[in-house]
Amino acid sequence: MSRLVVVSNRVADPRKTAAGGLAVALAEFLNNTGGLWFGWSGKVVESAHGGRAGEAELHTHQAGPVKLVTLDLSREDHDAYYLGYSNGVLWPVCHYRLDLADFESSYIAGYRRVNQMFARKLAPLLKPDDVIWVHDYHLIPLGSELRALGCRQRIGFFLHVPLPPPLMFAAIPGHDWLMRGLCSYDLVGLQSEADHEHFCRYIQREAHAQDLGDGQWRVFNRTLRAGAFPIGIDVEEFNALAEGAEARELYQRMKREYSRRKLLVGVDRLDYSKGLPHRLRAFRELLQKYPDTHRSATLIQIASPSREDVTAYTDILHQLESLCGSINGNFGELDWMPVRYMHRTVARARLPGLYRASQVGLVTPLRDGMNLVAKEFVVAQDPADPGVLVLSRFAGAAEQLGEALLVNPYDSEGTAEAIHLALQMPLEERITRHQALLASCKRWDVHWWCDSFLDTLNKSQAEESGTPWL
Ligand code: ADP
Ligand code: F6P
Repeated sequence: MSRLVVVSNRVADPRKTAAGGLAVALAEFLNNTGGLWFGWSGKVVESAHGGRAGEAELHTHQAGPVKLVTLDLSREDHDAYYLGYSNGVLWPVCHYRLDLADFESSYIAGYRRVNQMFARKLAPLLKPDDVIWVHDYHLIPLGSELRALGCRQRIGFFLHVPLPPPLMFAAIPGHDWLMRGLCSYDLVGLQSEADHEHFCRYIQREAHAQDLGDGQWRVFNRTLRAGAFPIGIDVEEFNALAEGAEARELYQRMKREYSRRKLLVGVDRLDYSKGLPHRLRAFRELLQKYPDTHRSATLIQIASPSREDVTAYTDILHQLESLCGSINGNFGELDWMPVRYMHRTVARARLPGLYRASQVGLVTPLRDGMNLVAKEFVVAQDPADPGVLVLSRFAGAAEQLGEALLVNPYDSEGTAEAIHLALQMPLEERITRHQALLASCKRWDVHWWCDSFLDTLNKSQAEESGTPWL
């Protein structure tokens, strides 16, 4: 059997808590399959002479069945590749936030440099029959860089973030080069049908791609496949966590503490794409319009720190703090605070307890590739008395979780109405909706995601000619 080599910017020890859809999903399936996981160590090394990461040493660590191989980044590379092009340009544009993009022209060179360095460091570790799976927007050109070094293995790519429509994607400096990079893979996986359609439209319009049917395309003198592979969670693993002592203990404690109140819960990275201020405004709207919710509803919002060196993230932190403060100041009572906001990561083992103790799960991103929290919330519910998921129609998850209460998060009044409906929903309707949602989470779980992607990649022909796409 071929060895699986996973490459992503963020690498996490599969046995520890991580916040971030990619790290959580990869850790879950690699724990079962074993393999090599290659990426950034998360460390930035300062160098007196501003040395480039070309000299970076590899760190190797065996974590259960997974061999982790990581490298540090120099300050210069980290700032241009990670903070700059990846999170200052690609992230905002892919999340439809052109207004937040920082189109600094020097970033792209750092992005290319780090991708080349990843390829140089990874290539000697590869075996001829390895299957290579590259993840996310940080590493789009990695496939073509590996090909340039003579790697002939099958290489697949999965984009965890949304792919915007062609005209918006074209706002990215280097978009045509990026798209050529994407087309150097044997398989390109997207989160949703909408993202897949954007990919097809782009290559047809801008690169005159020829549709060969069955998800195959002829473009830039080579053949590749593309398709939607919605990512899921490990349902069994999450159920096992829910049965664990930490989750149960938290559940009991929350039930005791909030016995006379209904809980609404939000769990996110603190990211502007998650629509947290919009969510808080919708909650304020609810409190304003429905006084019966005073003292009877509490919103617990947990937001883990993320990318704090990018200005847009510090701005969102301040907005959130100010909104939480003003809602509590205006509506709070001596014995009730409407919002409990925590700026931290919760241990994964406790999360199911928090979800299960909540009557409403608020997953309201302005744009999201998938959103695993939506699926975790559903799986953690008590099937005999389940909570209600309020889900943004702009999350990739909405394509599979249509039985949630779907909302437009920009419309705070509409979202407040949906939350009110969720708080009032009769048991019978909650059960019917939950059964359908749970079935979708089970059908499109992390194993389905991994197996269907890798099966399709295995079907793809490894490129035989040189590197005509470079
Ligand atoms: P993203 O990949 O953009 O962070 P997802 O919702 O797809 O969004 O994935 C987030 C993952 O990280 C989920 O598994 C979630 O449980 C976890 N996570 C997010 N925020 C927190 C937090 N504050 N504490 C613990 N885990 C978190
Ligand atoms: O799932 C989207 C994603 O960007 C992942 O690529 C990433 O691991 C996660 O969010 C968290 O972001 P970061 O790795 O920048 O901390």
